[in-house]
Amino acid sequence: MKVTVFGTGYVGLVQGAVLADVGHQVLCVDVDAAKVAALQAGQIPIHEPGLDKLVTSNHANGRLRFTTDAAEGVRHSEVIFLAVGTPPDEDGSADLQYVLAVARTIAEHMTGPRIVINKSTVPVGTADKVRDVIAQGLAARGASYGFDVVSNPEFLKEGAAVADCQRPDRIIIGTSNPASEARLRELYAPFNRNHDRIVVMDVRSAELTKYAANAMLATKISFMNEIANLAERLGANVEAVRRGIGSDPRIGYHFIYPGAGYGGSCFPKDVKALVRTAQDTGFEPLLLNAVEARNEAQRNVLFERISAFYGGQLQGKTIALWGLAFKPNTDDMREAPSRNLLEALWAAGARVQAYDPVAMKEAQRIYGERGDLVLVDNVDAAVQGADCLAIVTEWQIFRAPDFEQLAANLKDRMVFDGRNLYDPAQVASYGLGYVSIGRQPVQPKGH
Ligand code: UDX
Repeated sequence: MKVTVFGTGYVGLVQGAVLADVGHQVLCVDVDAAKVAALQAGQIPIHEPGLDKLVTSNHANGRLRFTTDAAEGVRHSEVIFLAVGTPPDEDGSADLQYVLAVARTIAEHMTGPRIVINKSTVPVGTADKVRDVIAQGLAARGASYGFDVVSNPEFLKEGAAVADCQRPDRIIIGTSNPASEARLRELYAPFNRNHDRIVVMDVRSAELTKYAANAMLATKISFMNEIANLAERLGANVEAVRRGIGSDPRIGYHFIYPGAGYGGSCFPKDVKALVRTAQDTGFEPLLLNAVEARNEAQRNVLFERISAFYGGQLQGKTIALWGLAFKPNTDDMREAPSRNLLEALWAAGARVQAYDPVAMKEAQRIYGERGDLVLVDNVDAAVQGADCLAIVTEWQIFRAPDFEQLAANLKDRMVFDGRNLYDPAQVASYGLGYVSIGRQPVQPKGH
């Protein structure tokens, strides 16, 4: 089947490559000429396991092509995906300008019937807006082609995007049009073997499903972070509590890890956008407000612990930082808790020696050259000459450090762990102090 994908960000590029890999003829369109040129030359703009190979092999066999020519994109296929960005605007609502701009382009260049499939995370009601824009565009041209706007949200996780897209838990198809449903069933047939993953529903429910999924996951995390704060104050251990509640299959072990707060391009943005959507209907979402507030507070917890240890005197201190990406296996630093920590440490007069396996270039791009940020290229260099160590991302390489070396190199022999990577008793056995999330702190030997 021929398919066009507008937008070559995380969602569009992965979706395009995965569809091409099962045999569809995919044309990806992006307004960013430099990005399209890079993709044509086999350069992948994001770090995502397996994506490089998938893009280059399908580009080489001609099933995956890239262009800036929107008219060609609209002509290429009856099936058009919208996978452009929906960044938050000032009040937290999703900004639809890119989605609606593509809708106008589609109306301008349509030469026959089209199915427009929205993959971007967009507020409930967006499919109706896209439909209106296309209808107006067609009317302005005096054209009257049939078209449908379908919601088909994407649930991929960064760092596992290709695998998630190739083996989805569910494929949500939001349409009340049987012909569109049949077309999407055909398109997704290669991903729907063995058992039926397709859930068909009306378009508004499909749009809300995406927000509900992310808000539920964010709620689990904020809930656990709240319990972690309580555990610290009550002399309990949140890791024991986590195992205890996770064993109930109604709760489950997934997404109940306390930490330095959730980050990334989805949860913070989508929870805020859903709050706005609710408020726009005159409904105050009490629970979502609390999920958001807990996360904002949680992002500062690590800094507060470090600052408390130094009695608020961080001027001239050197903090080693392990992890910059918002989670492992990605170089994405959007809404990363590391940024809250970095910025708070700098504001307090500290300097930071940071290491991340893949996000260093991204940190450089965001913060540029500055005297209070030294980016080093391995875990040991980060702790050389540092007063203490802070950990914000649970990369594999941080899981079994040389504790003896840490005790020898860190002047204050303190580790502040925002991801509960270690057993406190083990860290303490090296004479190190250890502060983690939801567990009782350990003082360094001799402190
Ligand atoms: C998320 C959803 O998982 C995905 O389905 C959706 O399509 C987009 O948003 P992503 O943002 O890539 O994906 O990352 P995810 O692995 O879900 O992690 C989000 C954040 O939650 C990270 O900052 C992570 O560190 C944090 N997290 C996750 C916790 O703090 N505790 C947990 O138990 C799980």
